[in-house]
Amino acid sequence: MITTEEKLRKQAYEAVEKYRDTVQKDPYRQGYHMMPPVGLLNDPNGWIQWRGTYHMFFQWMPFHTGHGAKFWGHYSSENLVDWKLEPIALTPSDWFDKNGCYSGSAIDHDDKLKVFYTGNVRNGHGERESYQCLAESENGIEFKKQGVKLELPEGYSAHFRDPKVWEHEGKWYMVVGAQTLENQGAVAFLESDDLESWTHKGELAGPVEGLGYMWECPDAFSLNGKDVLIFSPQGVEAQGIDFNNQYQTGYVVGKLDYEKGKLEHGVFNELDRGFEFYAPQSMLDEKGRRLLVGWMGVPDQNEEHHPTIQHHWIHNLTLPRELKLVEGELYQLPVKEMEQLREEKLFEEVVGADLSHKLPRTSELVMDVDGSLNQFELQLFDYLKLSYSKETGYFTMERSSLANGNTESRSCRLIEGLQQMQVFIDHSSVEIFVNDGKEVFTSRMFADPDECMVKVVHKGKERLKLTAWKLRNDAIHQNL
Ligand code: FRU
Repeated sequence: MITTEEKLRKQAYEAVEKYRDTVQKDPYRQGYHMMPPVGLLNDPNGWIQWRGTYHMFFQWMPFHTGHGAKFWGHYSSENLVDWKLEPIALTPSDWFDKNGCYSGSAIDHDDKLKVFYTGNVRNGHGERESYQCLAESENGIEFKKQGVKLELPEGYSAHFRDPKVWEHEGKWYMVVGAQTLENQGAVAFLESDDLESWTHKGELAGPVEGLGYMWECPDAFSLNGKDVLIFSPQGVEAQGIDFNNQYQTGYVVGKLDYEKGKLEHGVFNELDRGFEFYAPQSMLDEKGRRLLVGWMGVPDQNEEHHPTIQHHWIHNLTLPRELKLVEGELYQLPVKEMEQLREEKLFEEVVGADLSHKLPRTSELVMDVDGSLNQFELQLFDYLKLSYSKETGYFTMERSSLANGNTESRSCRLIEGLQQMQVFIDHSSVEIFVNDGKEVFTSRMFADPDECMVKVVHKGKERLKLTAWKLRNDAIHQNL
């Protein structure tokens, strides 16, 4: 007899085959960003370097371009550049995860790759239930579910999900995204000696007045002697140039007291300034780097207007970024390995005037400024404009809205001026790292696929050095 798991896996692989041609014909398919073979991708999950190999799992709905009972899709990589699609890791087939194997994290323990994830369940009355579950793998590819390890602790609604687990001084710790019974977002903190039984120690952080009704995808780690908590709160109001997306992702920095189970921390800062960035996850790799990958999407934000849904797929992940803590602020820089994507140097020029250039759809542009700029504009194809003015200090990204074609913008302030910029262009995305990663703007970019002009306008005498590379277009391998 065929099991539910086998049946669902078979259906998922059939969907991949059925739409393979349609998906591949889309000019917006990415050249070097992880994306679903078909259907919808959302959060990065189980991000780990295990026995030397990098593993990235992801929330995956193979059957349509909406949300629902998620699988865990899986990519692996030896170099953080080339990614190979692996067989499905988790299937929503058991009573405790039948409505979705929701987000979670990975650890290396007992010679196994173990993942903790949330089993999402709608019970017979249509009510949500949430179970924190474990699955294990001996080869990093096939997973055996170990069932429920944690039921809902008291004090929270069933919006309790996305376990991130780590080891500290011989004990295991877990943070879980939560909602209190008063409808406020928080991060639950748990401790275990054996990964089997977990003690709830209270809230590591939250609730915080004004910071929303649910905090998703928490991630706690230490960096440069401080403790950092990244999370994605829902229900935060926009404040001027801050928090303008539908839901937010940001971080706080402080000191984690493991005994008390509390993080004393400062203010919540937005992590990325772009239109599409959410639910990131970090891990420590074998080189000791803290590497972060996010989802290049936001739940409920214009998903029905993404042009790729006609081709039966939607969303992708960001590039892997290395995190640094500089004077209490998180900086993100593309990992050094991204240089391996460079295929050909297109130009390197010092410019004192305006300039137009053709750029291929997979390319990288680096700008270094001698001094600091007065006024600057960069037009990317027919779609996106970046601008900076020393007078106001604002750096702004503008594009036409996916929903209605109106111009929409996101901004940050650069008190130190615009000194440096690195831009990664893929067929339908752009990631802009400003001033060595102090600010990042991550966005999808649905420019006319035939449009190739990039224009720089700058007013003033400063000299810019612009360097551009053509990047590889073949880093994502999806043959199963
Ligand atoms: C964040 C999120 C998580 C959840 C997952 C479900 O985007 O809502 O909280 O585990 O997506 O796909």
